[in-house]
Amino acid sequence: MSTTARTTAPAPGAAKARDLFPPPPAFAARARINPSSWTAQRLDDAAADPLGYWEAAADALEWRTRWTKVLDWQAPRAKWFVGGTLNATESCLDRHARTWRRTKAALIWEGEPGEVRTLTYGQLHDEVCRFAGALRALGLDKGDRAAIYLPLVPEAVIAMLACARLGVTHSVVFGGFSAEALGSRINDASCKVVITADGGARRGQVVRLKETVDKALADGACPTVTNVVVVRRTGHEVQMAPGRDLWWHDVTREAQPVTEAVAVDAEHPLYILYTSGTTGKPKGVVHSTGGYLVGVARTMRWVFDLKDEDIFWCSADVGWVTGHSYVVYGPLANGATVFLYEGAPTYPGPDRFWSMIARHKISILYTAPTAIRTFMRLGDQHVKRHDLSSLRLLGSVGEPINPEAWRWYHQTVGGARCPVVDTWWQTETGAIMASPFPGMTPQKPGSCTKPLPGLAMDVVHQDGSRCADDEQGFLVIQAPWPSMMRTVWGDDERFRQTYWVQVKDPATGAPWYFTGDGARRDKDGYLWVIGRVDDVVNVAGHRLGTAEVESALVLHSAVAEAAVVGRPDEVKGQGIVAFVTLKDGRQPSEALVEELKRQVVGEIGSFARPDDIRWANALPKTRSGKIMRRLLRELATTGRVTGDMTSLEDFGAIAALRPSEE
Ligand code: WTA
Repeated sequence: MSTTARTTAPAPGAAKARDLFPPPPAFAARARINPSSWTAQRLDDAAADPLGYWEAAADALEWRTRWTKVLDWQAPRAKWFVGGTLNATESCLDRHARTWRRTKAALIWEGEPGEVRTLTYGQLHDEVCRFAGALRALGLDKGDRAAIYLPLVPEAVIAMLACARLGVTHSVVFGGFSAEALGSRINDASCKVVITADGGARRGQVVRLKETVDKALADGACPTVTNVVVVRRTGHEVQMAPGRDLWWHDVTREAQPVTEAVAVDAEHPLYILYTSGTTGKPKGVVHSTGGYLVGVARTMRWVFDLKDEDIFWCSADVGWVTGHSYVVYGPLANGATVFLYEGAPTYPGPDRFWSMIARHKISILYTAPTAIRTFMRLGDQHVKRHDLSSLRLLGSVGEPINPEAWRWYHQTVGGARCPVVDTWWQTETGAIMASPFPGMTPQKPGSCTKPLPGLAMDVVHQDGSRCADDEQGFLVIQAPWPSMMRTVWGDDERFRQTYWVQVKDPATGAPWYFTGDGARRDKDGYLWVIGRVDDVVNVAGHRLGTAEVESALVLHSAVAEAAVVGRPDEVKGQGIVAFVTLKDGRQPSEALVEELKRQVVGEIGSFARPDDIRWANALPKTRSGKIMRRLLRELATTGRVTGDMTSLEDFGAIAALRPSEE
């Protein structure tokens, strides 16, 4: 671990810090949090009494039984709202369906081919109750797990909530993952049921999801799965295994609706979501029900200044944490109208995003820097063709946003009228941790500004001592928070080792949460996140462990060894470069380059496809045998290696010059 982060992150220099964008007065005047509704005293109060702060936030949810204690903290094990019971769907559906919101749109969905479906809170509630009944009839019960492998269609939201209604822990697997990746996730969590679709629409093509599920389950590879429920989306022909596979429309037709949700303990695992780490095996991040909902509901309302009349679009897929927290649970807990789009952002034309914003009168857009940079490159004309006056707030998440992209987003998309909330968080944190309040915090392009109230975060050295202003160090979280991950599924020790041993409070020795990110804090207390300091790369906002890609490559019969590093990429943030040594008798060739790329796509998914495969006669290693990754990163970035598809690199000479590295 070194404090030098590896990304294309903005240079968080003092020069940039001069650019301050105070909230536009017209926005601030109507904002939930603005200088007249919120005083510095309230921030101090939250810092002095975080438990009181979170307790007040928890009051915004619907509970069956109230908690008796806010927090039980035996580091790193947290229990929030001890003794409280609830069901997530009662906060997200039932309480809205009982009011005027019964007829308010909960979901407005647009498929890639262009069809539009709207589900009101009343309808969504009914669909969830019915599908929960179908799952119950298949034998699913509180404490079981179900895998969800769907395109971004309303059924994805319905399936998640139907699981939650029964106390079934869902594990959503992004539809871009391969059969291998899906199968290992199903097995890790011993899922009983897989919910999928015949296919999804992407760039005018059909993504054959059911086929991938069949492959994952073939030859008894996932022995815990008893049934597969299939949504008919694309209508192409699929194989249905008798006794195992059932159509969604058949099982729901006969289902007995679950009108009474199953109450669960506040700590009951709402979901598992796999994320990449520094080893080849992804971690099943476990989130709770009570604390998680408190975190997402509060941030949804305050960070996005959510109002009943908003149409909120978070462009993330439900396969990622952003989709869990800000497509499903955060917005629905607040009774919001959520817009969903199934397909590719630039299909059929480069203005698809803007056309949808104009047609659906979207008022809040939350997307990723990689998308913003893509649109920026495509040219302003595609944005300007559409009336985007419905937009009032813009958000960014997933990676550092470079100031140039921030400015373009602010000016060209937001017409300089919309504040930009740059939100820092992670799969593990569950909810946004650092972000401006759009009606109160002056924004600096490239900075996620400050930690939100109730949270203790800072930039420190490895020994826990505080970094000086503008000095780069590790971003840590110094106290538990309600939406924090509870453990790695089935592996408490890995949870501790990954997050809770690297940095300690130098005064007390208490463990702090290590984010894996490098950052600086400027003289105003603003945070500038630079990027990962571990072996995780961020490709187009998707987290990938370099070890995962390496494991995929060495499965190929020609490969002896592989080392994978990230290199800066103007659009994707980072791209993947693999250095590969071949087994005796195997020769580099262009065909082998393609084979290896396909190998990675097959093992992980197409988003993990290496940009570059480079051959080496041996990987550069230290005397103790560790791969000199920093050297490889430099080579991948500067292109000092030949780059010829078929020539071998000889690292011996360069490595010999730097024997002590890492
Ligand atoms: C990065 C996505 C800078 C960071 C919610 C983090 C960011 C990782 C930002 C988590 C931001 C996310 N500024 N970097 N606003 N948001 N990151 O788990 O490196 O997919 O550790 O969660 O993305 O990615 P994950």
